[in-house]
Amino acid sequence: MNVLITGATSGIGHQLALDYAKDGHRVVACGRKQDALDTLASAYPDQIKTLRFDITDKSETLSALATQEPIDIAILSAGVCEYLDVKHFDADMFERVFRVNVFGTMNTVEALLPNLNRGSKLVIVGSLARLLPFTKAQAYGGSKAAIHYITRSLEVDLKETYGIDVLAVSPGFVKTPMTDANDFEMPMRVSVEFASQAIRKGISKGRRDIGFPKLFSGMLRVMSLLPQGMQVALSRRMARNS
Ligand SMILES: NC(=O)c1ccc[n+]([C@@H]2O[C@H](COP(=O)([O-])OP(=O)(O)OC[C@H]3O[C@@H](n4cnc5c(N)ncnc54)[C@H](OP(=O)(O)O)[C@@H]3O)[C@@H](O)[C@H]2O)c1
Repeated sequence: MNVLITGATSGIGHQLALDYAKDGHRVVACGRKQDALDTLASAYPDQIKTLRFDITDKSETLSALATQEPIDIAILSAGVCEYLDVKHFDADMFERVFRVNVFGTMNTVEALLPNLNRGSKLVIVGSLARLLPFTKAQAYGGSKAAIHYITRSLEVDLKETYGIDVLAVSPGFVKTPMTDANDFEMPMRVSVEFASQAIRKGISKGRRDIGFPKLFSGMLRVMSLLPQGMQVALSRRMARNS
């Protein structure tokens, strides 16, 4: 299979690229850091091809992806996280985070559509953070709630129009450079190897919302059904204890 992965220079996307290549698939690994792309390609030189572009730059993204072979699985994992301190409210942060997580992801979808065929899978990485109003997560959680909605809605139209399957991925905490920057407790944090396995298994089974780890995902989904006041109280308590 031809598998294209954004965010392949680090964390979840990097592990997915290695694992798909190890399983004998052809991988197009995308990111911005050339040295990280070169190191990744050197692990499986016959199978991993790299593309360097910034997903927030639409023309760069369109031209980088213009000459691709048909893609069986596209996994859009590129993303950023920033937390808001309401005492130093920074509206620009919302723009920075949404520019990558939402608009950059949509640049990538536009660029990829000509290379996706009936039966191709478009997999968009969101986050379980979308489920609850977590402290300081206004920009990040908001961007992931937006991308989840967009993913679900794309599932309606891309399947109907082109036969493309659209899958959402909702990870809990995964140990990557993104979460290494966090200074709070991260319950049930899993390894990138675990994340890659869960995502690849979910994709092969055609699951439309791949949430993991299962217990954490289940707990947050139940909590998201509570009345809004209870969700806020729970989030405040978690914030005080973190
Ligand atoms: N780690 C977690 O606990 C967790 C939980 C839930 C959801 N997620 C989501 O999972 C995805 C991967 O996260 P991660 O933990 O693996 O993060 P990570 O290790 O920080 O990797 C982020 C990746 O995104 C790429 N990227 C960022 N901005 C980009 C841009 N403008 N253009 C192109 N590529 C860009 C980076 O590429 P360069 O370094 O080359 O710029 C890097 O490869 C993200 O969407 C994240 O929100 C992560």
